[in-house]
Amino acid sequence: MEYRELSNGLKIPMEGFGVFRVPDKAECKESVLNAIRTGYRLIDTAAAYTNEDAVGEAVKEAIAEGICTREELFITSKLWVSGMKNYDTAKAAIDASIEKSGLEYLDLYLLHQAMGDYFSAWRAMEDAYKEGKLKAIGVSNFYPNILTNFCETVEIPPMVNQVELHPYFVQKEALETMEYYHVIPEAWAPLGGGRYNPFEDEMLKGIAQAHNKTVGQVILRWNVQRGVVILPKSTHLNRIQENFDIWDFCLTDDEMEKISSLDMGPGGTRTKHFDPDFVRMCLGIQH
Ligand SMILES: NC(=O)c1ccc[n+]([C@@H]2O[C@H](COP(=O)([O-])OP(=O)(O)OC[C@H]3O[C@@H](n4cnc5c(N)ncnc54)[C@H](OP(=O)(O)O)[C@@H]3O)[C@@H](O)[C@H]2O)c1
Repeated sequence: MEYRELSNGLKIPMEGFGVFRVPDKAECKESVLNAIRTGYRLIDTAAAYTNEDAVGEAVKEAIAEGICTREELFITSKLWVSGMKNYDTAKAAIDASIEKSGLEYLDLYLLHQAMGDYFSAWRAMEDAYKEGKLKAIGVSNFYPNILTNFCETVEIPPMVNQVELHPYFVQKEALETMEYYHVIPEAWAPLGGGRYNPFEDEMLKGIAQAHNKTVGQVILRWNVQRGVVILPKSTHLNRIQENFDIWDFCLTDDEMEKISSLDMGPGGTRTKHFDPDFVRMCLGIQH
């Protein structure tokens, strides 16, 4: 496992385990335990995933089993838009995440979207960070223009920005902006999020064959080699293990370029962040 250093000196593992769309508590807990047993040390949940409690239970069980210590783990959660009405709602939502997880602190907490009154919400996060409830704070889905304005305005700049990053949505400019502001990039949907079917791409299959690896391992490795923290999700033990077995090979510069050439530009994302209806839906507004 490799690490990157956040702007506050904390070390973040370059591979984590995501639990989006695993609402079943037992399945989530089992998957997280399998991930920690495999070697993952970063777990990525969110208030909106409704499984912060299952993650917390798995963490406690892993520690009780002696697999790792709390200090070796890096538990991330996120503040949903409903908590971004003002400072007080954000403060309550941060406390609710910590309480639901059953943990004393969270290693990283993110503004899930650039929506609502996210500046007031950030001030609540800055205060929770200063109090030690959150060891690091960051943002998610902040595109370059929004991130620039944010970093130039807030007291404590975000340490992480979690955005969609895979070979079909390379986001070169976003990575350049993050580097400029010392913000560590995290990739959500690093395997394409169940879309694009990279697993049948002949070029990717050829590169995988050359390294005796799978296509999934190749595209995860591609993001790591450009400095991106990856958060693959799976509820299947064999895939959880496969996705973690990426630390013993290196892609060549030529292979890195070929993989990047799959980029579809703005058309490579199927998220609806630029759709006004999606924003209204997240804000809970119905017209
Ligand atoms: N900040 C945000 O707005 C945001 C948005 C989306 C996601 N996220 C975070 O990022 C994490 C990952 O994103 P994601 O879950 O959307 O996408 P992903 O990890 O790219 O892809 C997950 C999908 O790929 C399948 N899969 C996993 N390993 C595989 C393998 N080795 N071979 C073939 N298929 C494989 C999974 O199925 P099985 O589970 O059936 O194996 C699942 O359908 C999330 O869990 C969450 O923590 C954040």
